[in-house]
Amino acid sequence: MVIKFGIVGHGFMGHEHEKMLAKMDGIQVTAISDIDGKQLEDVGGGIKRYINAGELIKDPNVQVVLIAANNDQHKKLVIEAAEAGKDILCEKPVALSISDLDEMETACKKYNVKFTVHQQRRFDPDFRTAKSVFDSQSLGDVYMIKTGLYGFNGNMHDWHVFKDQGGGMLYDWGVHLIDQMLWMMNESPGGGKLKTVYADMRTIINKEVDDYFKILLRFENGIMAEIELGTYYLSNKDHWYERHWFIGGNKGSFTLDGFFPEKATITRTTRLLTNPGKGRTMSAAGPTRSFGPPPDGVLVNEDIAIANTKHADYFKNYIAAYSGKEEFLVKIPETRRVLRVMDAVRESARTGMAIQFE
Ligand SMILES: NC(=O)c1ccc[n+]([C@@H]2O[C@H](COP(=O)([O-])OP(=O)(O)OC[C@H]3O[C@@H](n4cnc5c(N)ncnc54)[C@H](O)[C@@H]3O)[C@@H](O)[C@H]2O)c1
Repeated sequence: MVIKFGIVGHGFMGHEHEKMLAKMDGIQVTAISDIDGKQLEDVGGGIKRYINAGELIKDPNVQVVLIAANNDQHKKLVIEAAEAGKDILCEKPVALSISDLDEMETACKKYNVKFTVHQQRRFDPDFRTAKSVFDSQSLGDVYMIKTGLYGFNGNMHDWHVFKDQGGGMLYDWGVHLIDQMLWMMNESPGGGKLKTVYADMRTIINKEVDDYFKILLRFENGIMAEIELGTYYLSNKDHWYERHWFIGGNKGSFTLDGFFPEKATITRTTRLLTNPGKGRTMSAAGPTRSFGPPPDGVLVNEDIAIANTKHADYFKNYIAAYSGKEEFLVKIPETRRVLRVMDAVRESARTGMAIQFE
């Protein structure tokens, strides 16, 4: 079976989808729409072009409408596609508010159409490697998880800088980073309910939207997860972003850097709770023991295999789920929970208080 896709929005992500889906057995892109005719000029051969998304939605040669238009367009396009009886795959963030998502889900249920969201970063190899370590429980009792993404050139672009178009980094990247953390905690034997959300969110250089946030999620099991993102970490680097994971447990620490990491490591100590003795290190701040180098042989590094996952795996699941062989990986209640966390983040940043969650 080949599933016929129509893509609405042929900007940055619409082009990525066209390229990716061209390589997927089981999906054929039959139509693409964009309100900006220039964006249709390079649409691939054999694919129908529409300026008006409504006409693409009505096209009998489209089974699934993949919505890759600006964030503020998702609600109306999802409802229009549902009313036309089309299945829907919507880009993240699925909606700008929980009430919008409720309306979208109600329409999808009423017209009995499939509805899921492109949270493909559940397949990022950096995240999946960190998740595999967390799932294995080999770090003992985990007390903290830290994940960060930093940009060093101060860039934000296009409609992402306008509030009324669903701009800002919480909607853009926060939705992925929170989804990864909640999904990992939900799926894993070491996971659990989210008790409190505490956050800082700022507009450092933009006029309307957030370009920095730090989010602390305290889970019922005692784990504190920190998610930090900054677009304005100006620095003279030879690369333009940094992506980090750190997981701390009482039997070791896990570190990983980069979206496509070459290396991931668990570091353990062979001399837990033994006194370091008289050895001291002279540092610029004076003599130190706790923060000096360990004696030879005390720290042991374990290389961790990097997960071999890729974004195409998202569509493999989509194809299998479409014909009922699997479940859709991304479920609407999960995306609603992410939106609820985003609301709690805003509320905490506004009031300076921790927000009780579940
Ligand atoms: N999953 C991911 O990793 C990922 C990455 C980037 C963007 N996105 C998402 O994809 C969506 C698009 O983002 P982008 O960066 O490609 O933006 P973009 O501005 O590059 O492209 C959006 C396109 O949609 C078109 N458009 C707007 N309203 C339309 C309508 N009603 N009908 C038809 N076309 C319309 C615009 O003309 C534009 O060409 C956003 O929701 C964004 O969050 C997801």
